[in-house]
Formats: sequence, C-alpha cells, structure tokens
Amino acid sequence: MRTAKAPTLSLTSDAATRRLQIVDQTLLPFALEIRELVTWQDCAEAILSMRVRGAPLIGVTAAYGMALAASANATDDHLDTAYNALLATRPTAVNLAWALAIMCKLANSIPHAERAELLWAEAVRIESADAATNYAIGQHGLALIKALHEKLARPINILTHCNAGRMACITWGTATAPIYLAAQSGLPVHVYVEETRPRNQGLITQWELQDAGITHTYLVDNAGGHLMQQGKVDVVLVGADRITLAGDAANKIGTYLKALAAYDNHIPFYVLAPVSTIDTTLVDVSAIEIEERNGDEVRLVHGTDEAGRTTSVRMLPAEVSVTNPGFDVTPARLITGIITELGVAAPQHLGAMLNNAAKR
Ligand code: MRU
Repeated sequence: MRTAKAPTLSLTSDAATRRLQIVDQTLLPFALEIRELVTWQDCAEAILSMRVRGAPLIGVTAAYGMALAASANATDDHLDTAYNALLATRPTAVNLAWALAIMCKLANSIPHAERAELLWAEAVRIESADAATNYAIGQHGLALIKALHEKLARPINILTHCNAGRMACITWGTATAPIYLAAQSGLPVHVYVEETRPRNQGLITQWELQDAGITHTYLVDNAGGHLMQQGKVDVVLVGADRITLAGDAANKIGTYLKALAAYDNHIPFYVLAPVSTIDTTLVDVSAIEIEERNGDEVRLVHGTDEAGRTTSVRMLPAEVSVTNPGFDVTPARLITGIITELGVAAPQHLGAMLNNAAKR
C-alpha cells in the first residue's frame, strides 16, 4: 500500500472562514476538482446533485449545512427552512435525517446567540467521528479476512459493489476499511470492483484502490454472479444506506442480485455501515423510500474523448421510458453479518447488539 502522498479528502472544513471544500464527485475519476461550499444552499445543492454522495458523507455535509445556516441567521424560522430543504435532497440514506436530527436537537437546546458556534463544533464532531467509526468497522472486518486467509492460505478475493469507500465517507470508507487494513497488515487481498451502472460509482472505488496500490479487477455488474459460480469470490463486502432493525439493508441498486448470487454459491455476504445507518424507527422494510432518479442517467453515458475531454454520449432517445431506482433492499436472510463499529452481528441480532451497547 502506498503511503507517500496523503489522499485527497472528500470534504474538509475551515472554522476560521466557515467554508467547506469538497471533491466534486460528479467529475470523478476524470477530473479532480475541489469546490467551495459557503452556504446551506450550497450544501443542499451538493447533496442533491451528488457532488457529495455516499450515506456517511451526505450526513456530514447536511450537518455543516445546518451550521452554515446558523452562521447566516440563527432564528428558528431560518433553521427550519434549511432543515426542510436539506432533508428533501435525497430520501434513502438515513444518515441525512440522523445528522439533521442531531443538529436540530442541539439548536433547540441552546440560546440563539450560541447557535453559530456550537452547531459548527457539532458538525466538526460528526465529521471527526467518521474516521474512528470506520476504523473500528475496518478492524472487525479485518478479523474476518484474516480468518479466511488462515483457512484458504492464498490471496482473498473480495467483491464490492458501488463506492462504499473513502469518497462516500471522510476517511477509510465502510466496506473498504477492512481492505485497507488488510493491505496495511500484509494480508494479500484482491478486489473485484463492480461498475455499478448507471452512475458508475465503481469508477470511484477503482480510483481509490489504485491510489492505495491495492490489487483489483473491474467488471460489469452482470459478471458478479458468474465469478461467484466460478469460485473466484471468497467474500462480498458492501455498504448500506439504511438498515432496518430486522437487518434488511438498502444499498445501491444491484446489491440484492449480488446477495442472491452469493447465497446460492455459499459465499459470505457482509454489509458494513456505521450505527448511524441503522434506522431504529424501522422494522418494516417497505417503509424505506427508494429514490427514483432521472432517466437521463441511463440514457446518456459519460467518459472522456480521445483528447481527454469529459463528454457524454447518448445511448437512448430522450422519449424512451426508463426506470432508474437508485437503491434496492437486500433481505436479512441473505446477509451473513452486519458489521458496524460495535462489531459483527447476524442480522437477527442487530437489535440486541444496539441494546447492549446502549446499556454500557
Ligand atoms: O447514490 P450514492 O452514490 O450516494 O449511493 C450511496 C452509496 O454510496 C452506496 O449505496 C454505498 O454502498 C453505501 S454508502 C457508504
């Protein structure tokens, strides 16, 4: 694993200027452009347009959105407006509502004059917690990779879908944290990176793994099941955007099919996410709102031309009817374990694990 150059962070904040700098992920991996966010409206736009994306990062950006709203005008009316607009940006990842609820609770408990300062400090705390949380997720996942390596005595082949990497978070990533830790501790790993049509978040995962010097192979989404049948996948590690108390997990569209294929081939399938991705209000999975995205994401493909300029190519005429659900739900029965910062739990024991942690 290369360590010489610190990787660019998905988001950084500057308390002195009350500005955020984000990587514009709509341009990755073709261009690495940093953008400044200075108002809560900038934060809402960045989440809505997927300049920032991935459940944990969406939560952090929303928290800063509330802090920036308080810096501009700390009245209840103004904070309510910002809260409602931020909450409406994307429906599926629960980290958004989780972060906004923390910020609102704090705002309601302090005088208006203190809101700007204390809300900013709270957003910094949420941002900083991401590293420790994902490191802990990584350690729990690493133990599983180690056990697999002891059993198989060869490089471990990991399949992942979407980008549950450092760009979906602040650092480490969720599904990628054990991969980085395995590489750091000298365990040989090889990662199969699924393209993840239509937004191709696999390109971001590939970019991250290449940057870290981790061996990987890129594949189209439809090839995952075939590789599993061929015995080429030892374990599947994916992230999540919302997990019910019953252990069902909403994640990027296509995850469910990989879970079915893993189940059919007796391959362990793990979901890695922070506790903040567990929606403790939800047992009934049908209550998860699945984001339906613009059909142009399917009708057009993006890339670079021969001259290296980013460009779009039309695959389908505008009038063709397209359905473009952003997420699907993997039922608990297909999931081997859910890995949070608290540890590894079988889906049916998730509630008990949370209860035990609350008692400590
Ligand atoms: O639509 P996105 O790119 O914001 O999707 C969310 C995700 O990044 C994934 O579903 C991911 O696997 C879970 S978030 C670490």
